[in-house]
Amino acid sequence: MASLIVRNAHILDPSGGVDIAAGCLAVRDGLIAYVGGDGIEAATAAGPGATVADAGGLLLTPGFVDMHVHLREPGNEAEETIASGARAAVMGGFASIVAMPNTDPPVDNESAIIFTRREARRAGYANVFPVGTVTAGRSGQELAEMAQMARGGAVAYSDDGAAVPSAGLLRRALSYAKMLDKPILEHCEDKSLLADGVMDEGYMSTALGLGGIPAECEEIVVARDVALARLTGGHVHIQHVSTAKSVALIRLAKLEGVRVTAEVTPHHLTLTSDCLRDYDPVYKVSPPLRSMEDVLACREGLRDGVIDAIASDHAPHLQGEKELEFAFAPTGMIGLETTVGVVSTVLVRSGLFTWPEIVPALSSRPSDILKLGRGRLAAGLPGDLTLIDPLRAWTADPDAFHSRSRNCPFNGWKLEGRAVLTAVGGAVLFDLDGRAVRFLP
Ligand code: DOR
Repeated sequence: MASLIVRNAHILDPSGGVDIAAGCLAVRDGLIAYVGGDGIEAATAAGPGATVADAGGLLLTPGFVDMHVHLREPGNEAEETIASGARAAVMGGFASIVAMPNTDPPVDNESAIIFTRREARRAGYANVFPVGTVTAGRSGQELAEMAQMARGGAVAYSDDGAAVPSAGLLRRALSYAKMLDKPILEHCEDKSLLADGVMDEGYMSTALGLGGIPAECEEIVVARDVALARLTGGHVHIQHVSTAKSVALIRLAKLEGVRVTAEVTPHHLTLTSDCLRDYDPVYKVSPPLRSMEDVLACREGLRDGVIDAIASDHAPHLQGEKELEFAFAPTGMIGLETTVGVVSTVLVRSGLFTWPEIVPALSSRPSDILKLGRGRLAAGLPGDLTLIDPLRAWTADPDAFHSRSRNCPFNGWKLEGRAVLTAVGGAVLFDLDGRAVRFLP
């Protein structure tokens, strides 16, 4: 187990009221042992043989948690493996990722959950927390073995890529998940309204001659899901919110005390359907990119806490498939290695948000939703850390990424701010500037 001292850091964990301008943090044997201003106390707490990193005044936050990631193992290892995704995660500043179960075959049983955890441990990069399907085979027909998957270490249930199709089935799923004290993560999309839609329905879809997906395709399912959470007392988490009315529905439900939480992606916070004007499938995603009004509503939802978390929905696809004609290309975009830079540039450097407003959405809140026991800087918790250089200028270049896939909509963007060091359990797994030094014991 690793021991680490990070000194000369601006330590920031808004969830615990921690904001220390020139602080030290010590990790001993994998667990946080000291957070404060005294270097000698930190050295004592870390014990002998600790690695030492001088943060140079940069921002030290809880290790970021990405609660929505697609690893393609088993089934599509050319796109991503558990190891390559977990490695891309630490390179992007994420100490923990949550793996969606829409693999091939789907993760719908206990041994598949155990396999994911074992492969992640063997890889030794980010912590990987697996999600199991709601329905057996992700077929939308009958419930999967939810309790067994919980026993194997599933942190939640989701048929992501699709909503649970029937209200009756979701009602039962929410009741079971409540007994197991876990949320259901819902991809809100009504299949019958999706039809042959491939982009947001509106002026652009008409102009481009592409099939439209109305906002109601998402909102009808959000309304249904919130109603079922109210009925059952279960916890529903709305994935990748994309429309203004979805934000309004979740706001109302939260005011009523319904157990609902929500996430938004960096692309739904920054890009609109205007990106599709050249028919480039790199911008094809589910739910689709929407209007500027929707983008602004998502930002507002994030600001006032209606939307709890920022999650990448990292969805790797082969370049050959992404280069198909728009209607035939798969949906999804990678995000593990751009999320911090895009959020920093578009939300923080622009002056719209401060880091104290953003950090919980990337750490304590996703951790709390899934009860991961991470995402905070407090003694006794795992030594997961992210060091951010808020002013670092860099250009997003998918060829330099560690993900196996290249379908990045931010290719070529000039970004300001990035993660420069990631530690998991006190072990420095990514260190852009080589600031961590290991002294011989
Ligand atoms: O665009 C998407 N791609 N949205 C999803 O919900 C699933 C994902 C995938 O698995 O490719």
